[in-house]
Amino acid sequence: MEQKSRVALVTGAGRGIGLAVARRLAAEGAAVVVADLDADGARAAAEEIAAEGGLARAVEMDVRREADWQRAVAEAQGWQGTVQVLVNNAGFDRPGGVQKVSRADWEAVLEVHLTGCLLGMQAVVPAMRQAGWGRIVNVSSIYAKFGGQGEAAYTAAKAGIVGLTKSAAQELARHGILVNCVLPGLTDTPAIRSMMAPRIRDKILAQTPLRRMARPEEIAAVVAFLCSEDASFVCGAAWEVTGGWQM
Ligand SMILES: NC(=O)c1ccc[n+]([C@@H]2O[C@H](COP(=O)([O-])OP(=O)(O)OC[C@H]3O[C@@H](n4cnc5c(N)ncnc54)[C@H](O)[C@@H]3O)[C@@H](O)[C@H]2O)c1
Repeated sequence: MEQKSRVALVTGAGRGIGLAVARRLAAEGAAVVVADLDADGARAAAEEIAAEGGLARAVEMDVRREADWQRAVAEAQGWQGTVQVLVNNAGFDRPGGVQKVSRADWEAVLEVHLTGCLLGMQAVVPAMRQAGWGRIVNVSSIYAKFGGQGEAAYTAAKAGIVGLTKSAAQELARHGILVNCVLPGLTDTPAIRSMMAPRIRDKILAQTPLRRMARPEEIAAVVAFLCSEDASFVCGAAWEVTGGWQM
């Protein structure tokens, strides 16, 4: 699963799953653009990767902004070359069921998860097409499969990512670009630690055959595989990484 000297861009890489993905790809030899809305988080993450012997560069960006995508891709190009691997991971949650979710929260969640994924693909695909090789992994959620209760916007966005992934996979495979997504289950990240009530977490764990949360590194391992040459016949997959929850 060598990344050799490939250039990878990972969004939301300042912490959590994105940080674990960036560390893993860097450990496999990729030059990693650590992109995050949180500039300090991105910088600290890039420093952490460098301290581990990896090659990383922090870029402050908002995945909702096309101009930020153009700048990030240009920065990568000037630094180590064309982005060959994209991991659309940035995200956040605004809980609320169908009857309660505000229009503002609905649109905010869809914009970051779904529009952010689309803009990311649009930013990197032209150069990948030219190179005849690319890997794109979009981070969805197991909620895309069964629907999170009180999570209307998040579930719709994550299910949308699965559809967008399959559409892009159909369209781009002939250009040597493989697009897949992962559906993580409960993963021990800053977002979960700060947002999820212990009562809800315990309920999910009781339904999870492995009886624990994932470590971010366990999601990163699957993402790294999908980014690798070894995944050469994996196209349009929605890969569950849940410890068996909702299998
Ligand atoms: N943790 C879980 O249990 C879990 C489960 C399923 C899916 N996911 C998904 O995995 C991804 C990462 O989740 P996490 O738990 O590591 O979250 P996290 O909140 O710990 O990290 C998310 C990172 O994304 C960044 N970000 C947010 N909005 C951004 C934007 N507009 N532009 C650029 N960066 C932005 C944040 O600054 C943060 O550093 C998300 O897409 C999330 O929906 C997480």
